[in-house]
Amino acid sequence: MCGIVGYIGKRPAQDFLLEGLKRLEYRGYDSAGIALLDNGKIKTVKALGKVAELQLKMERSTSSAMAGIAHTRWATHGKPSEKNAHPHIDCKGDVAVVHNGIIENYRELKEALGKRGHAFRSETDTEVIAHLLEEEMSAQGRSASGGKIREVDFEKAFVAMLKQLKGAYGIVAMATKNPEIMLAARLSSPLVLGIGQEEMFIASDASALVGDVKRIVYLDDNEIAVIGKEGYVVKTLSSRKREKEELPLEWNKTVAEHSGYAHFMLKEIFEQPKSFADALRGRLIPGEGKARLGGLRTVEKRLRSINRIVIVSCGTSYHSALVGEYMLEEYAGIKAEVEMASEFRYRKPLLDKKTAVIAISQSGETADTLAAIREAKEKGALVLGIVNVVGSTIARETDAGVYCHAGPEISVASTKAFTSQLAILALLSLYLGRQRGLTLVMGKRIAKELLQIPKYMERVLTQAKAIKKLAKKYAKQAHYLYLGRKYNYPNALEGALKIKEIAYVPAQGYPTGEMKHGPIALIDASVVSVMIMPKDSVYEKNVSGMEEILARGGKILAIATDGDAMLAKKADVIFIPKTLEMLTPLLAVIPLQLFAYYVAVERGYDIDKPRNLAKSVTVE
Ligand code: AGP
Repeated sequence: MCGIVGYIGKRPAQDFLLEGLKRLEYRGYDSAGIALLDNGKIKTVKALGKVAELQLKMERSTSSAMAGIAHTRWATHGKPSEKNAHPHIDCKGDVAVVHNGIIENYRELKEALGKRGHAFRSETDTEVIAHLLEEEMSAQGRSASGGKIREVDFEKAFVAMLKQLKGAYGIVAMATKNPEIMLAARLSSPLVLGIGQEEMFIASDASALVGDVKRIVYLDDNEIAVIGKEGYVVKTLSSRKREKEELPLEWNKTVAEHSGYAHFMLKEIFEQPKSFADALRGRLIPGEGKARLGGLRTVEKRLRSINRIVIVSCGTSYHSALVGEYMLEEYAGIKAEVEMASEFRYRKPLLDKKTAVIAISQSGETADTLAAIREAKEKGALVLGIVNVVGSTIARETDAGVYCHAGPEISVASTKAFTSQLAILALLSLYLGRQRGLTLVMGKRIAKELLQIPKYMERVLTQAKAIKKLAKKYAKQAHYLYLGRKYNYPNALEGALKIKEIAYVPAQGYPTGEMKHGPIALIDASVVSVMIMPKDSVYEKNVSGMEEILARGGKILAIATDGDAMLAKKADVIFIPKTLEMLTPLLAVIPLQLFAYYVAVERGYDIDKPRNLAKSVTVE
């Protein structure tokens, strides 16, 4: 996730900015940069890689500048590189901005700015902000006397720029003609002000301010902040002042590292409503029941002639692929199959020009998946990627693809990447389906329901305390069976993988219908069966599976649809909101993630770095 820090006040800004970036390093990034406003000039220094590289570059030119902004970048538009690193400046170097989030309409804005003579230095969406601000300021400046932009003009220009943006942003801007202030704005991407004595700080999360300030103010959506040495003013976009509550900054280092959560895994589970929304952002056309996947534009024609999809992946990404198989067959009407990448690469796969091979990978570096796509390319298949890390090897070696925009996933156990992958697979099913006979009505229904998912996820997350209690109840079980059918069979595998990975307990995932073919012999009081059984097309079948287990003294923990009173009488139940059957895995997986997390906490293990595991398996 990108990180922002800014400073304006009585001390040289450089030290705080570098220290602040270091405190944000845990969020994951690929490059960093700093801009200092010194004697009416903006000086920027950028580095690919770690903040330490940036610090090395800075050492050769320590500056006494008392105002500056800095950024750690997690690439979304434009590969990781020095020129794509923030801060970004305008044509004349009079404005510098840093930005977190995604500007959905940046292509149109960039094209229009280019036609008006603006020269771009980077591939990022962010740079359009600097050039728009330049335009709005020169428009304001034309009305100012002697070319000095009055403070209100900088602010007015800033607001005029904001009103042209679509998407999500946390922005901090500074201008040579207004060295005594900095402007900030927030829409969906957090920003927090740090209040000092004759100095002000700003950051994308409070952990960057630990040790420098005692009181903070969180910006809310559609608010701007004017900050200066003497303090701050928060306003609405219509320039009405907003009184804000100043909060004490009480963080210890560990809590600060995980933005208030005890572990990255918990933070990433709770990030899912936002990461899911980010995966959808700018990619749905609800009125037409369609999906717009810019990353597939170059292969759009070829995709129309595809009659078979093979998905290759590993681990959690293999489980999301299994959900995608159901989606693609049911809604895109395309034959789909899923192969474990580690097996696929040793088989003699029968592929041809009408086959699309899709690699799903959070890291984009998994050796088995990489080997699988190289094999597929050899055989002439169209190779696509659904990847989270921008510019990763798999992303670069596929013919085209769609990024998940989940932000860095730090915990070894994958959670938000899974639900973001499902978002992309749902979009892909919609995209292909609407070319192949999926009706407008169904397309609109799917699009509408996808937009509800973040809200439904929030509702599931409110049950964290109840899930924690159930985890305490079952934490010492000898054996766990995870059972699900159809869209939720992959969730059974995913739930079992989660608890194996971080709680080191023997757990197996099975299709519920498979119980009769052997596993039911396992059932006794030592086994808890986690049954994923929302009210869907196979609900009744699941109920009879549950009865068979209860009859043999097995314990049941059911994931059920809100209001399922019958289940609540027979078993421990965690409820999820009703949604389209194809989207139930997105909601049912959250209780499984939290259950595994709390069982592992009960057992006292290292949640974020489980034994024997690596975040990315780059070796065979
Ligand atoms: C999931 O919790 C595991 N960390 C692991 O199974 C992981 O999903 C697998 O190694 C694939 O990684 P990738 O998505 O980065 O390719």
